[in-house]
Amino acid sequence: MTDPFSPFRLAGFSLRNRIIKTATFEGMSPGGCVSKALVDHHRALAVGGVAMTTVAYCAVAADGRTFADQLHMRPELVPDLRALTAAVHSAGAAASLQLGHCGAFCNNHDLVRRRPMGPSRALNLVGALGGRVLADAMTEAEIEEVTGAFVGAARLAREAGFDAVELHLGHGYLLSQFLSPGTNARRDRFGGSLANRARFALSVVERVRAALPPKMPVLAKVNLRDGYRGGLEVDESVQVARWLEARGADALVLSGGFVSRNPFYLFRGERPLRQMIAVEKSWAQKLALAVFGPALIHSYPFAPLYFLPLAREIRRAVRVPLVLLGGIKSKQDLDTAMREGFELAAMGRALIHDPELIAKYVAGSAHESGCVPCNQCVAEMDREGGVCCAKVPEQLAQRAGRVRATRASH
Ligand SMILES: Cc1cc2nc3c(=O)[nH]c(=O)nc-3n(C[C@H](O)[C@H](O)[C@H](O)COP(=O)(O)O)c2cc1C
Repeated sequence: MTDPFSPFRLAGFSLRNRIIKTATFEGMSPGGCVSKALVDHHRALAVGGVAMTTVAYCAVAADGRTFADQLHMRPELVPDLRALTAAVHSAGAAASLQLGHCGAFCNNHDLVRRRPMGPSRALNLVGALGGRVLADAMTEAEIEEVTGAFVGAARLAREAGFDAVELHLGHGYLLSQFLSPGTNARRDRFGGSLANRARFALSVVERVRAALPPKMPVLAKVNLRDGYRGGLEVDESVQVARWLEARGADALVLSGGFVSRNPFYLFRGERPLRQMIAVEKSWAQKLALAVFGPALIHSYPFAPLYFLPLAREIRRAVRVPLVLLGGIKSKQDLDTAMREGFELAAMGRALIHDPELIAKYVAGSAHESGCVPCNQCVAEMDREGGVCCAKVPEQLAQRAGRVRATRASH
């Protein structure tokens, strides 16, 4: 059986083992800038033994941010990102940057455009109470502009020293909104059939792939299922995976869920409504969460490797390297991922709980993560001071220290 700690060559790039820290929004980019905390966070993950750490959700354009305090790619960001990649490299790991665009799913109070934009004119379920009620349907010129923004952002990622980029095609972000039959009502060549709905995403992948050196991997994070009625189902995602393979994606990261429609399909575990209400900044949204949250936000029980049954269907259909994700916590889960034929495994919450987990697995001093999963890290990810595990007192103290330091510097 393949050892999860054995090296792997992805598009000609050498990874020291087969474990990737998946993108989890860090909440450490106030003003859209790289903070020292963000650098330290990824350095710690690199020291802790992962092969590659993924810097989460960098929007390809200012209007592609879900929240105002997110990274969006621009030349001024490159020197600070270079410091981050250097810190990761000095600890022996690789760095990947997740590139995406939120489309119609937008709670950004700092929009350049008058309204967010997506495949079709729609209610902006996430930002409506903050005054951004509607999203516009994108024109073909805007689709081309955003495709160009993905390419430009990928080139800047390379300049900043990233070893790979991960294109966000899942979770209900812009490219996923086009793929999903539930959010794409277009009647032009970007809507209707699956081939049409996939056209934008495939073109982004193909053009980013062509813009980067062959040895720099381009990963695509995709949905196995959207997880809401009327959304993308696995028979369609199998076909999308085949097309992505043909267009040159170097690996597919297999996820699922649609943040604006069914957020906890993606996370599994407890539904932290109380914490979500507590951290919400707008009173209108606090009230809406308290009144409608219990009925509208479904929870799904946690099970180890919860996407494995769906991921097997993609495994049967393609030969491109696949990254298994979702509920991977123990050394045994990593072994199962390898035995099931996945080249790589990605972990989120278990590594937020303990960034040193992989080094402990390698040393044999741990076999199982202590992540519960309470999902408080999800509820609090954009809380001042950034993400941390609410069950680890030292992490809470470190976050409080970051908040004090930031306030003192203002
Ligand atoms: C705090 C937090 C923030 C997240 N932010 C992102 C994100 O920015 N981009 C993304 O693709 N997924 C994001 N995710 C989802 C994870 O990438 C992953 O799909 C999910 O946590 C399931 O993996 P796990 O069971 O190993 O945690 C986030 C997850 C958490 C816990």
